[in-house]
Amino acid sequence: MSAHFHALRVAQIVPETADANSIRFDIPPELRDAFRFKAGQHLTLKATIDGEDVRRNYSLCTSPDSGEWMVTVKRIGGGLFSNWVGDTLKAGDTLDVLPPHGSFTTDFAEGISRHVVGIAGGSGITPVMSLVRTLLKSEPGSRFTLLYGNRDSSSIIFLEELARLKDRYLDRFEVFHFLDGEEGDFELFNGMLNRERVDEAIEHLIGDPARIGDWFICGPGPMMDAAETALLDRGVERSRIHIERFTADRPTAALASQMAELQSKAAGIVMSVTLDGRTRKVPFSESNILDSAREAGLPAPFACKAGVCATCRAKVTAGKVEMAARYGLTDEEVAESYILTCQSVPDGDGVAVDYDA
Ligand code: FES
Repeated sequence: MSAHFHALRVAQIVPETADANSIRFDIPPELRDAFRFKAGQHLTLKATIDGEDVRRNYSLCTSPDSGEWMVTVKRIGGGLFSNWVGDTLKAGDTLDVLPPHGSFTTDFAEGISRHVVGIAGGSGITPVMSLVRTLLKSEPGSRFTLLYGNRDSSSIIFLEELARLKDRYLDRFEVFHFLDGEEGDFELFNGMLNRERVDEAIEHLIGDPARIGDWFICGPGPMMDAAETALLDRGVERSRIHIERFTADRPTAALASQMAELQSKAAGIVMSVTLDGRTRKVPFSESNILDSAREAGLPAPFACKAGVCATCRAKVTAGKVEMAARYGLTDEEVAESYILTCQSVPDGDGVAVDYDA
C-alpha cells in the first residue's frame, strides 16, 4: 500500500552534539504496525516552515526491537529544516511523518555469522548506528567494524554510545575514528576518509575484503564515492555494497537533454496510475510522472524529488518508462520494474504504474 503522513507527537528532543539533535517520537499503539522498521531505514518528516511545505528524510538511529523511534538531525548551514528543528521544535509538538522506508538494510538472523563493515561520515552515522545496534544484539556470531570520519572529537555524534557498545561487545565491535581537524598519535587517523585513507584503512584495519559479508556506506558524497570505488576496485560485488545517499548529484548534460526530449514527446500521453487501490487515467502534464499524478489530483507520495529517498517509488506494470536519477533504488528493484516516479517519463503510449505494488 502507498504510505501516508501521520501526525506524530515529539516525545523528546535529545541534544547529541552542539549542532545535532535527535527527535524521539511517540508512536501510538494503533500506528506501531505501520511504523515497524528495519535497521537502516529512514522517516520522511514534513513541516510547514514560513508558509512553505518542507519535507526531509532522516534515518532512524534506534534498533527495531528497542521500541523507540528516534531520528538524528544535524544542522546544515542555511538548512531550513535542520535549523528549524534545532531552534524551534520542542517536546509536545507534532510533526507529519511517513512510515519508515528505504533499502539501506539487510536481513538479520540469529544463526548468521558474518563480518560487517560500516564506513560513515558526520551525520551519516545515523542509519549505521541502527545497523550496529541491531547486528550486535540479534546476531551473536557476527562482528561489526566501523570506520567513522568527523571534523573533531566534539562533533562526533554517538561518541559515548559507541564507546559503551565497544565495552559491552569487546570482541565483536570495533570503531575507528578519523578526524580531519584534530591531530592524534596515529597518522592513519588524522584526516578525512578520502580514497587514500580508505585504501589504507582497508589494508591495515579490515584485511581481505572478500571475507566481509556486507559494507554499509553513508556520509558526504566524496567520502561515499571514495569508499565505493575502493571496494569496487578490489572486486567487491556490488550487491554487498550498500550506500545511502542523502544528497543527489546533478544529471549529466547528455542525460538531461535526453530527458528533456522525452518530456516534450510525452506531453499529453495518457497513463494509467494506481494508488490506494484505485486506477485512474492521468495525462503526462508535468515534467515527470509524480508531478503529473499530483496535478491530476492523486496524492502520490514524495519527499526529495531528487531521486534519493524512494518515497515516490512505484512499479511499472505496462509500457516503457525512462528514469533519470535512480539513487534511491537497488539494482534488484530496477530489475523488478520499480521506478522513482519523480525521475520518470513515459516512453510511448500504454504506460501503467502502480504505487501500491
Ligand atoms: S521523491 Fe524522493 S526519490 Fe522521488
